Amino acid sequence: MQNLTAVILAAGKGTRMKSSLPKVLHKVGGKSMLEHVLDAAEGAGAKRKVVVVGFGGDVVKEALGERAEFVTQAEQLGTGHAVRQTESLLKNEKGSIMVLCGDTPLLTTKLLENLAVAHEESGAAATVLTAIMPDAAGYGRVIRASDGTVEKIVEHKDATEAERKVREVNSGIYCFDAEALFSALSEVTADNAQGEYYLPDVLWILKDRGEKVRAVEADDYEETLGINSRVQLAGAEKILRQRKNIELMNAGVTIMDPGTTYVDAGVTVGRDTILYPGTWLEGNTTIGERSEIGPHTRFTNAKIGDDVIAVFSYGHDCEIDSGVTMGPYVHIRPNTHLKRDVHVGNFVEVKNSVIGAGSKLPHLSYIGDTDMGCGVNMGCGTITVNYDGREKHRTTVGDHAFVGCNTNLVAPVTVGEGAYIGAGSTITKDVEPESLAIARARQSAIPGWAKGKTKK
Ligand code: UD1
Ligand code: CA
Repeated sequence: MQNLTAVILAAGKGTRMKSSLPKVLHKVGGKSMLEHVLDAAEGAGAKRKVVVVGFGGDVVKEALGERAEFVTQAEQLGTGHAVRQTESLLKNEKGSIMVLCGDTPLLTTKLLENLAVAHEESGAAATVLTAIMPDAAGYGRVIRASDGTVEKIVEHKDATEAERKVREVNSGIYCFDAEALFSALSEVTADNAQGEYYLPDVLWILKDRGEKVRAVEADDYEETLGINSRVQLAGAEKILRQRKNIELMNAGVTIMDPGTTYVDAGVTVGRDTILYPGTWLEGNTTIGERSEIGPHTRFTNAKIGDDVIAVFSYGHDCEIDSGVTMGPYVHIRPNTHLKRDVHVGNFVEVKNSVIGAGSKLPHLSYIGDTDMGCGVNMGCGTITVNYDGREKHRTTVGDHAFVGCNTNLVAPVTVGEGAYIGAGSTITKDVEPESLAIARARQSAIPGWAKGKTKK
């Protein structure tokens, strides 16, 4: 394929979002709308990507960082004016320039690829992507000549009654020959109902010069939908969720109830894993094969192995190795690594800790800042006392240690390999390997003390 450059228009304010965040940064399907557009453009082979920013430009630049180049359109004088701002950056580019809008997150790579290929193969100076809309109101209408070629695009506000009946609309996505684009843009005027420099005017300027102008119709209008309001954002969210769920199911994942399963675009899930209702998989979470996730479980940026069972659990920025069972009601916090076959049970929180293979934290524990060996048994209610009010301290527990119920491990402290701790102990000193530590008040008994006290 020829050299392909993408120009993405994102200078508009997006008034109808009623937001202080620029419209294109609103997230849908786990990514900003602009990222979805960039992904699709990159997928279709775009090398350079130039984003035209205006309202909230600095925030947009910061959000994308190195992913794109930016030009600022200080005043929003129309789509033609916006593209013209890229001229200084792109005037020496050869090949095709694809123009896109930053608020169309439903685009697919396939759609853009088809457009780029159709444009290149026909040798046209401009190719516009069109769509048949159920309701075309507000869009620019595609007016075709009797031989089917595109005559022009008329904006809704400039259109006649007859033209408004046309349901084929300009999607706002185009491919242009780079040189032809900038030379035609210099002729665009703001002589229209909105007093704006319209990008679509380039089409008839080129046609007037005897250049070839083509239209390619999208198979599915949904992919070209632009998002202007929160209601439309929710609609797009639903479509993206559904697409992701279908992709996963087609790849061998069982989803019990796709309607209540929310998986971000960047998540991967292995074969024969089952997702139960109420499951959220976010960010760059990965899940291996044959795992059972949910019901009502949320993982964010979690790396999860094979054969993991997680019920009513929440984990973020953590690593959970194969064979781990967790839940119900477990919270795995950042920088935690649960190694193979660990069991974390009812109402347990683990933070910034490594839990060695096969260790068990079955009930009601808080484990923070801990390095735990393998095969350890933490009794019910055991907690690490990791914070002295100023600093956090680490706890180390050796392999196969057996910690009795309701123990406090006051950090910094080390429990040696194979050591035992009596239930109810508050451990403030290191425990030698294979020893027994008991740190609780001794039980005393007063014989006969209760005699006569019980009512008969
Ligand atoms: C535009 C098209 C219309 C098409 C529709 C598809 C024009 C004149 N009309 O209309 O034919 O059917 O898109 O959605 O192009 N933008 C800037 N700077 C500006 C103006 C706009 O960056 O000065 C950006 C906006 O942020 C937005 C995109 O360009 O991402 C489209 O602008 P918008 O005002 O929404 O154009 P429409 O009126 O929808
Ligand atoms: Ca629009």
